[in-house]
Amino acid sequence: MSPASVRIVEVGPRDGLQNEQQVIPAAVKIELIEKLAATGLGSVEATSFVSPKWVPQLADGAEVMAGLRRRPGVRYPVLVPNLKGLENALAAGAEDVAVFTAASEAFNRRNTNAGIEESLRRFEPVLALARERGVRVRGYVSTVLGCPYQGEVALADVTRVAAALFQAGCEEISLGDTIGVGTPRRAAAMLDAVAQAVPMSALAVHFHDTYGQALANILACLERGVRVIDSSVAGLGGCPYARGATGNVASEDVAYLLHGLGMDTGVDLEALAEVGGWISGVLGRGNQSRAGKALLARHTEPADRPAATD
Ligand code: HMG
Ligand code: MG
Repeated sequence: MSPASVRIVEVGPRDGLQNEQQVIPAAVKIELIEKLAATGLGSVEATSFVSPKWVPQLADGAEVMAGLRRRPGVRYPVLVPNLKGLENALAAGAEDVAVFTAASEAFNRRNTNAGIEESLRRFEPVLALARERGVRVRGYVSTVLGCPYQGEVALADVTRVAAALFQAGCEEISLGDTIGVGTPRRAAAMLDAVAQAVPMSALAVHFHDTYGQALANILACLERGVRVIDSSVAGLGGCPYARGATGNVASEDVAYLLHGLGMDTGVDLEALAEVGGWISGVLGRGNQSRAGKALLARHTEPADRPAATD
């Protein structure tokens, strides 16, 4: 990837839809993933293979994977919390998976019923089987800039957990501001700290936009050299185990920022905005993407409309 290329990892179908209260038919999920992949996105996180008791919204992961018409060159990672999850994901034809833990002990217990060290041990057989099958594994670290249960999270903890995942064989580490509390200087300091232990080329950032800081944080991290950014079409989502957290930063807003910086994403922004408008309509929720809404409005409001008089 050239220095001016950025890979957007679209997480809406997983991080977004895991948080919807309503039951979303698998057919809608499949249509969303296929529409997203058609916009030029190289990675679309499709679903998860976690316990259906914990996240019933994604209990249909196998059905979604079975129905998906995959585009060559597009990656469709799925979340797995343990060996059972990986086995189910492999049976469903997944070629990319992601394991997840946190920098905060309290959050990890609420999210996976395990402490951080226990979750790292759980991943050992997952990584071994994935290696054997030639499956790529991404590692997520949640709560890198704050925890809803513990509050402050030490940078040393973020670095230690990220380094442990990388050394265990995760090829990419995504640093998650799960509750969207970070601000640019703190985000940059966190990234700098982790980059002491994990190469920048193996790092991704994952910002939720609860306090409206996500784009500013992303810019700060781009300036530090990160080139992989997670985002969610129309800003879908939240986290079922982090009350009050909003969705991820919207993919349309990220693409607009990156293109404005002269960076290449391979994404057709107009097409992405259409997908954001479509899924917001299907779910009956507001489109959280500012860029998406602006682009869609250009098509619906005539430019030559008489100026309003006061
Ligand atoms: P547990 O209850 O301790 O698990 O949950 P267990 O091993 O004791 O098993 C309990 C039951 O679950 C058993 O079934 C297992 O078979 C079943 P039963 O005998 O009771 O019928 N089970 C499974 N079923 C299907 N697939 C599996 C699986 N594993 C066990 N993989 C567990 C532990 C980790 C399973 C649970 O806590 C869990 O699934 N947690 C997932 C929570 C989750 O998905 N959270 C959201 C994703 S993380 C996130 O959003 C953050 C991120 O976006 C980054 C950021 O923003 O920071 C990535
Ligand atoms: Mg998330």
